[in-house]
Amino acid sequence: MDQPTPPSASAAPVGIGLVGAGYIGAFHGESLARRVPGARLVAVADPAPGAAERLAVNLGCPRAGTDPAELLAEPAVEAVVIAAPARFHASLVQAAAAAGKAVFCEKPMALTLADADRAVEAASTAGVPLQVGFNRRFDRGFAAAHEVVVSGRLGRPQLLRSLTRDPGLADPSRVPPWAVFVETLIHDFDTLCWLNPGARAVDVYAVADALVRPDWKDRGLLDTAVVVVRFDNGAIATAEANFQAVYGYDVRGEVFGSAGMVTAGDVRGTSMRFYGEQGVVGEGVKRNVDLFHDAYVAELAHFVACVRGGEPPSVTGGDARAALAIALASIRSVQTGGPVRVADVAEG
Ligand SMILES: NC(=O)c1ccc[n+]([C@@H]2O[C@H](COP(=O)([O-])OP(=O)(O)OC[C@H]3O[C@@H](n4cnc5c(N)ncnc54)[C@H](O)[C@@H]3O)[C@@H](O)[C@H]2O)c1
Repeated sequence: MDQPTPPSASAAPVGIGLVGAGYIGAFHGESLARRVPGARLVAVADPAPGAAERLAVNLGCPRAGTDPAELLAEPAVEAVVIAAPARFHASLVQAAAAAGKAVFCEKPMALTLADADRAVEAASTAGVPLQVGFNRRFDRGFAAAHEVVVSGRLGRPQLLRSLTRDPGLADPSRVPPWAVFVETLIHDFDTLCWLNPGARAVDVYAVADALVRPDWKDRGLLDTAVVVVRFDNGAIATAEANFQAVYGYDVRGEVFGSAGMVTAGDVRGTSMRFYGEQGVVGEGVKRNVDLFHDAYVAELAHFVACVRGGEPPSVTGGDARAALAIALASIRSVQTGGPVRVADVAEG
């Protein structure tokens, strides 16, 4: 992946405001304060009483509050990282862009295509960079697989696969309806598009059920899904997800082409193996922030380098829209029980 030049030691750090101090916001905040070169965490906002203050105190961040609008009005905030719940993302991107701030937004950038368009338009009108949190693109293994595809060594992509198996099931009250598509498989849809460069998704056929928690099905939480995606270059892809991976967080990708195959992703968290009486045993990881620790840091480092260097981020609002269109087509496919053309969803 072509990376913008990291900010030089002499360049002033990019002042970053964090919007949302929950699970991933806390991890991003820590990365911005301690791990990302050229970044300085200058403000945190979260409407939950005490959440922003606690994180700010832990990280030595000078400002904390409950109102994202106040954070956006702060001159020391040059860029924002949005880690609020998905339903707020598009409006927050719009407000941040209108305030002239560079924007990193967690996935999904929006829950409707109209909102996605609104967010992209706002960033473009304001002339600010907009990057979306498809962190798998910054994982070393996935990035290396992408390089192989782009180099042409793999030949013509024919079959692609991307899967997410998560050890934990979200509380249905904390995630949007159809979360398996718009929150989880959205990563896989982006991976499939990215690993099949230049191709567009034509149609999808999705099957989904609540096999982990059947009692949560009527609350809108499906936990197991497979989606077949056909692309306009002829490649056929599958994306799959499940939320009961007892062995750990498991994310893998694969492209099979006319001249070979490339795979990425490894459930083994480290190269450690214990050779004992029971055989050879490795260790899995239970949390995405462990499996993708370095990728989460690298995506923010890329964002900061783009802000400082004035280059466009490699993961765009357009990428977020493309993945969302596949997710929405998948939902319609489950509802109708048949294949759905992505253009029918994407064009209204
Ligand atoms: N890229 C990834 O791998 C990854 C991993 C985890 C979460 N996420 C995404 O990050 C987002 C947040 O997920 P989470 O697990 O951290 O959720 P969370 O519920 O743990 O945290 C969300 C936080 O946002 C706060 N909040 C609520 N409304 C807000 C608003 N209007 N403005 C600012 N903050 C607000 C809440 O008080 C809470 O502290 C989701 O969109 C999720 O899909 C991405």
